[in-house]
Amino acid sequence: MKVCIVGTGYVGLTTGACLAFLGHEVTCVDNNEAKVGMLRAGRSPIHEPYLEDLLAEAGHNLTYTTSYAEAVPGADVVFIAVNTPSLPDGSPDLKYLSSAAEDIGRNLGPGFTVVVNKSTVPIGSGNWVDAILREAHTGEGEFSVASNPEFLREGAAISDSLYTDRVVVGSDDARSLEVLYTLYRPVLDQSFTAPPFLPRPEGMGAVPLVATDLASAELIKYAANAFLALKISFINEIGQVAGKVGADIIQVAKGTGLDSRIGSRFLQPGVGWGGSCFGKDTAALITTAREYNLDMPIVQASRDTNRRQRELVVDKLLDELRILKGRTIGLLGLAFKPNTDDLRDAPALDIARRLIERGAKVRLHDPVAMARFREEQPDLAPYLCDTAEAVAESSDALVLVTEWPQYLEMEWAKLAVVMRKPIVLDGRHVLDESRLTRAGFRYLALAGWR
Ligand code: UDX
Ligand code: UDX
Repeated sequence: MKVCIVGTGYVGLTTGACLAFLGHEVTCVDNNEAKVGMLRAGRSPIHEPYLEDLLAEAGHNLTYTTSYAEAVPGADVVFIAVNTPSLPDGSPDLKYLSSAAEDIGRNLGPGFTVVVNKSTVPIGSGNWVDAILREAHTGEGEFSVASNPEFLREGAAISDSLYTDRVVVGSDDARSLEVLYTLYRPVLDQSFTAPPFLPRPEGMGAVPLVATDLASAELIKYAANAFLALKISFINEIGQVAGKVGADIIQVAKGTGLDSRIGSRFLQPGVGWGGSCFGKDTAALITTAREYNLDMPIVQASRDTNRRQRELVVDKLLDELRILKGRTIGLLGLAFKPNTDDLRDAPALDIARRLIERGAKVRLHDPVAMARFREEQPDLAPYLCDTAEAVAESSDALVLVTEWPQYLEMEWAKLAVVMRKPIVLDGRHVLDESRLTRAGFRYLALAGWR
């Protein structure tokens, strides 16, 4: 089928690459000329494992442009994957979505086109996008709006797309559901040949399709993200109790997660969640509920607990060092999680600023996100160090904020000897306390003793 993707970001580009790999003819449109130039040169503007391999593998089915007139006419499906960042009050900023919908409406071809909201949008916006499309659509041809929420995790986006747990499609129009079923058939049947660099998981069977109405599909996205965010905040709340009663939070998480009704994933305690989705989606969900005079205390609590985790890093350092003014604190890891260069709502940014507010000096490092960091966080760029060793040099404490493999595997003893105080705060409970102690460190865990 002919597919148009509007917005070649973390979600749009991954979706386009996967659909092209499945054999569809995909044209990606983006208003960022530089990005389009990079993509035409076969380079990915984002750090996503295997994405460049997939772009190369599916290149014959992929074209990139900044022109809607080139990309939209004749497409069977048009995906909107432009960013919907949060406004200060927590509601999503839909200006990009509405301008994209207008441009799509103006360029729709003569046939039947399914316009799909891939961007996370407030529940009920499907009808709003429909209204914008109708307003802008002057030519012949018909269209219908559908929702097809994404569930991909950055850093695992390709496998989460090709080997997804489920495909959710929402529309109030049976024809659109039919088109999307055909589009995703190879994923549903798992009938495609797996890419050599990303084999099909053992025992992977057919993928369930949830075909429902627009509002339900949109709410599934929010419910899933809010629950994942809640699960993480829950184990972090338990972690605070563990710290007080001297329990081992890792053992507690393990023993809890082995209950098949709970599940072990997303029970990793630490500095908590960041990224472009959990914060934005929980805020949008609360805002939507408020429009109906509904409170969502559980979702709100997951946000409050998550914010508290970042404050806790500073509190722990203050407990240990007694004074933060004039101290030098090294933060290892800036991206919101490993295997991505995405800094959106990254805990490290918050922690660095809180430390600076208290008069501490910070030293910052990340194996992958430094170039993006320089561009997006100019006020903090002067504190970047090229190596972890440079971060450790004469510092009073190190905090592991993002659990990059590079940090887990490095020679910690080399860092201890150059620090003023060999203290390490394990923000993700992933370091081996006995190994760090032997390397000369005083090991602190964020929640509970290890
Ligand atoms: C976006 C939404 O933020 C997220 O809520 C949704 O779940 C998936 O799509 P993401 O892909 O991470 O997530 O956004 P981003 O990486 O910022 O990419 C958006 C792309 O759209 C950028 O490449 C940007 O240049 C492009 N864009 C933005 C347009 O082409 N036109 C616009 O008007 C605005
Ligand atoms: C999330 C959802 O997982 C995905 O389904 C949705 O489409 C987009 O949002 P993403 O934000 O890319 O994906 O990353 P994810 O792997 O979910 O991690 C989110 C945050 O939670 C990261 O900051 C990570 O460090 C943190 N996390 C994750 C924990 O603190 N503990 C965990 O056990 C898991």
